[in-house]
Amino acid sequence: MTAPRPRPRERVLTMHGIGKRFGAVRALSDVDFWVDEGEVVALVGDNGAGKSTLVKILAGVYTADAGVIEFDGSPVRLQSPADAQELGIATVFQDLALCDNLDVVANLWLGRELVSGRRLDEVEMEQRTWTLLRELAAKLPSVRVPVASLSGGQRQTVAIARSLIGDPRVVILDEPTAALGVAQTAEVLNLIERLRERGHGVILISHNMADVMAVADRAVVLRLGRNNGEYDIADITTETLIAAITGATADVPARPAPAPEQITPGRIIPLPTDRPRRRPRAQDLDG
Ligand SMILES: Nc1ncnc2c1ncn2[C@@H]1O[C@H](COP(=O)(O)OP(=O)(O)O)[C@@H](O)[C@H]1O
Ligand SMILES: [Mg+2]
Repeated sequence: MTAPRPRPRERVLTMHGIGKRFGAVRALSDVDFWVDEGEVVALVGDNGAGKSTLVKILAGVYTADAGVIEFDGSPVRLQSPADAQELGIATVFQDLALCDNLDVVANLWLGRELVSGRRLDEVEMEQRTWTLLRELAAKLPSVRVPVASLSGGQRQTVAIARSLIGDPRVVILDEPTAALGVAQTAEVLNLIERLRERGHGVILISHNMADVMAVADRAVVLRLGRNNGEYDIADITTETLIAAITGATADVPARPAPAPEQITPGRIIPLPTDRPRRRPRAQDLDG
């Protein structure tokens, strides 16, 4: 049996030649970055490499001084977080920004509450919350408990679920597993796979190379505010990534963003839960 050939993925977002200064500090210089639908791209680099600055430009928190951002092939201006949200770029910041005293449903719909007549439509919001959590295969004991009572992994789940309410094309996760134990980390990594299956482009900032190797399709390395390598995860080991992050391999130019039709298909393959370390590639499945 031959595996069905997955359709080529669409490029959602491209950044070309992005520059950003804070006074005398050059946080980003000539950075290229892109993400396709149904792809998990890890953004890695040492502290101060420019990761947060780059995603804050995508989130509309900062504006770039130089460069071009394209969304679905057209240049866009991201002047505010509202611009980013409207385009379909959702960000889960590291602090999660949940309201601890409110329950899961209230947190998901905060600021976008559904109303029926002049009242909040609690039933509809709760049903849609369960539907979303089921789609994400997320385990929560109840959606009517204050999020303060949830574990770190469950709170991350709530924050990610909330980011999906507007059905974004791109979801940015800033260090989603940084504060989590082993089991909770596994839950969040599963959630990231569900995001990929749903077709979102996922940008994952992480310091944890095991997480990156387990869940990402591609990794983009920043070093001192510049591109320092861009890799298909299936082709590399953790050591390669660490060398690029620390500068043992320096001045690796970014590959120019390939046209979407040149992207190797074969990464939208359902993986077993105890996945092999190396991802299956298209050539493994042929014949
Ligand atoms: N708001 C800011 N004001 C001044 N300098 C900043 C600001 N934000 C980031 N920087 C500087 O920009 C560089 C990149 O920082 P950042 O994007 O936070 O890196 P990372 O997230 O990779 O650790 C660092 O030198 C940092 O000190
Ligand atoms: Mg940062």
